[in-house]
Amino acid sequence: MKNNGNGGIRFSNGEQIPVELHKVRIVQKLHLKPIEERLKAIEDGGFNSFLLNTEDIFLDMLTDSGTNAMSDNQVSSMLQADDAYSGSQSYYRMESALREVLGKHYILPAHQGRAAENIISKVFIREGTVIPTNYHFTTTKAHMELNGAKVLEIYGDEAVKIKSNHPFKGNIDISKLNRVIAEYGAERIPFIRLEASTNLIGGQPFSLANMREVKKIADQHNIMIVLDASLIGENALFIKQREEEFKNHEIKDILLEMCDIADLVYFSSRKVTSTRGGGICTNDEEIYLKMRDLIPLYEGFLTYGGMSVREIEAMAVGLYETTDETVINQSPSFIKYAVEDLDKAGIPVVTPAGALGCHVDAMGFLPHVPQEEYPAGALTAALYIISGCRGMERGTISSERDENGDDILADMELLRLAFPRRVFTLSQTMFLIDRIKWLYENRELVEGLKFVHEPEVLRFFTGRLAPVSDWPQKLAAKFKADFGDSL
Ligand code: F0G
Repeated sequence: MKNNGNGGIRFSNGEQIPVELHKVRIVQKLHLKPIEERLKAIEDGGFNSFLLNTEDIFLDMLTDSGTNAMSDNQVSSMLQADDAYSGSQSYYRMESALREVLGKHYILPAHQGRAAENIISKVFIREGTVIPTNYHFTTTKAHMELNGAKVLEIYGDEAVKIKSNHPFKGNIDISKLNRVIAEYGAERIPFIRLEASTNLIGGQPFSLANMREVKKIADQHNIMIVLDASLIGENALFIKQREEEFKNHEIKDILLEMCDIADLVYFSSRKVTSTRGGGICTNDEEIYLKMRDLIPLYEGFLTYGGMSVREIEAMAVGLYETTDETVINQSPSFIKYAVEDLDKAGIPVVTPAGALGCHVDAMGFLPHVPQEEYPAGALTAALYIISGCRGMERGTISSERDENGDDILADMELLRLAFPRRVFTLSQTMFLIDRIKWLYENRELVEGLKFVHEPEVLRFFTGRLAPVSDWPQKLAAKFKADFGDSL
């Protein structure tokens, strides 16, 4: 019987099922509240899933950031934490782990990924700078623009197609890269940013072949490569699974090769290692020294960078665990299960299945809701109302307005349902799939949203919206009629 890492075990009927290769030893009770209470909770939260209280949530699929399950080894490592403002042994254990796993010598700790983005942007970006990237991430773009950069996304045609079988939708389009350099001039481009398992287009990876090509061009023009490694483990896994040259490579070797190509690597440890924190690393002393003095100013001393020493210990262990294929494949294998089941049922989801979560295409799901009425936000609210499952809007609400005050319509309107690593079971996944199918059959009942309070920066976090009609009540009534109860 084939055991494909954690990617599934073949059952006697031929199906490949993502059997959990871990056991549960600490549990947290969940609540599935009646639909009347869920309706009230989403109203109180301004139809923004960020503003819900977990007390009112059944499956929290908002994000994998800081919500992956820790291993027994991680938790036990926290007990040996060495409390010290400077020179903590915990820090040196993390430094060793980063040197071994990412292959970078100089380390700068930061309290989370966006803190690393702040430091990098402050040091390398000026008014007029241009940053080519495979795709932006919300906080990355905000930091870069705040410091005067124009962010240019140079992805291939397949990247924003919902249904695709392209194995590497996160690749940079090389001809676009050449054009950008010719148009703006290499002197305005301090670095090219590559994001592993490209978050906003559905957790889609880039290939090592593509990364090597980008590097060749960058070297010709003396431009740095900056790698956002927040989801590097999953990208390395997809390289192993989808890129012929690497099918017999170990994850640890693929990780090292990816980092070796990059001049500077930064990450959110909230995602990479199931803990908190983040960091920046490089092998270039000059690059390191340019950033070093900003760490004590914005983050904390160089041996803790805003993290607790307990988190630092768990991060060191988590980094080593990132090289274990059965650990790194747990979330992608569940995502694949959900994506393939929904796709088979004709429900529009981003394919191929990627990292981080299952991404439902809200424009395909709710074609009657205009993009100006935020279909992904409406779908997120609707799914919460009928299931208690909290996802995240990744569409126009997560975008911003242009200088005329008009919405910049997102390339894709996605409801992201994150699968934090080793948190949910297969029956919970089946519950989620069942409720999405019910919602699809009743999709005509879902209408749009409008802003009632809109912050200027990163509006999706704390903005408040309202439905354009009483559709949430009608949806809840239909749910109760069909299921015969309120759960
Ligand atoms: N880069 C990527 C690719 C990310 O996915 C994130 C966070 C960050 C940077 C910022 O890191 O949160 O530690 O400050 N992504 C989270 C998410 C928030 O839900 O996808 P952070």
